[in-house]
Amino acid sequence: MLFKFPQDFTWGTATASFQVEGAAHEDGRGDSIWDVYCRQPGRIADGSNGDVACDQYHRYPEDIALMKQMGVGAYRLSVAWPRIMPQAGGAINQAGLDHYRRVLDMLLENGIKPVVTLYHWDLPQYLQEAGGWANRDTAQRYADYAAVLAKALGDRVQTWTTLNEPWCSAYLGYGNGGHAPGIRDYGQALAAVHHLNLAHGLGAQAICAELGDSARISVTLNLQVNRADSDNTADLAAKTRADLFANEVWLGPMLAGTYDQRIHDAAEGITDWSFVRDGDLEQIHQPLDVLGINYYSTNHVRGRSGAGSERNPMPAQDMVETLPPQGPLTAMGWNQEPQGLTDLLMEVSRRFPELELMVTENGSAWEDQVSADPSFPGGKGVHDPQRVAYLDEHLRAVARAIQAGARVTGYFAWSLLDNFEWALGYTKRFGLIRVDYDTQERIWKDSGLRYAQIIRDRAV
Ligand code: NOJ
Repeated sequence: MLFKFPQDFTWGTATASFQVEGAAHEDGRGDSIWDVYCRQPGRIADGSNGDVACDQYHRYPEDIALMKQMGVGAYRLSVAWPRIMPQAGGAINQAGLDHYRRVLDMLLENGIKPVVTLYHWDLPQYLQEAGGWANRDTAQRYADYAAVLAKALGDRVQTWTTLNEPWCSAYLGYGNGGHAPGIRDYGQALAAVHHLNLAHGLGAQAICAELGDSARISVTLNLQVNRADSDNTADLAAKTRADLFANEVWLGPMLAGTYDQRIHDAAEGITDWSFVRDGDLEQIHQPLDVLGINYYSTNHVRGRSGAGSERNPMPAQDMVETLPPQGPLTAMGWNQEPQGLTDLLMEVSRRFPELELMVTENGSAWEDQVSADPSFPGGKGVHDPQRVAYLDEHLRAVARAIQAGARVTGYFAWSLLDNFEWALGYTKRFGLIRVDYDTQERIWKDSGLRYAQIIRDRAV
């Protein structure tokens, strides 16, 4: 049965600065931790970096025109902190602000609402040299940066997302080292968890101090859907443990002003939590207008003893075994379980009934091939039936949650374009539009055209 989405539903696409911009050395941009990480041999699957990426820094007019053709009403983009504050000391680089002003102006002229993420992983390298997210001061520097953006861009932006997937920043960046800055130390990872929480709270306050109630504050979390393999006690305990470290470490402080005592207990021997100071939880617990949820797949877990796994790289995971994903997997090796998205949206709205939710990322990577085909704009394109099916099925999953009463007001497809997929470099393609990295040509895929149709019909 066809589901008709509400008239005011937000249809968007998403990208992130480091993944699409390129122009890494232009207009005074400083190094981020990802520039440095990419220079370290063996870190990035194809040895690539973000120097050019999709060159969106220069080609944003073309990309905005593509979005207009697609019919999207919103673009979720991020600001590169090292463009705004390139040097230690935090002096403001006007050229960086001017760039984003131009991009935002063009979006608005085209009727596309910007949803701006302040931090999508490109920490200025000089802050990492002072300890990065393991250092409390980074949260304060982040609040300074948030205030600068609010002041400079506040007349153009309504919805501000403080952080994107802090789970990745903390556990991959400082825990298993699979992301920049590449540190393997779960004590630091948990300090990073707390300082990211603090940055969220201080940043939200800085934005509201500048813009008052007109600003909409959000944060984007990759909440995990952990499914216990059975109802036995060990499996259920493994699910609870995984939920605590993946989800409750953010939801607790940000939405309720507390850390679940079980998190403290489970991390014994890893950290003494002395980085949590009196008053921090009040600072973190700020009014939230929208919770952004990024969803791709589920985790199936069971209880065991032994070491944590790469797939679920968290501290104190010795009792959690993450099972190999089942079914037809995407090119990322992730399972496809659209019902997980329905369940997640329902669960979050059951717990926080007042909270507005948006799916701020959802999408899939596949081995795409270009073929000559006059039916595509430009005479060639990518037939990507699996990405089309994934899109349809996940939008139906969102529809089921809305029908069951969840307050979901928007969906952002990941991603507008193929782009730099972090440690996997350019080897994985998530775009609704293909990027030919030799020529920077943008090439339509069936999924991009399908999304345009869904948006036109408001139905899937
Ligand atoms: C989550 C991240 O926010 C984004 O940067 C990444 O490319 C996608 N997931 C796909 O892995």
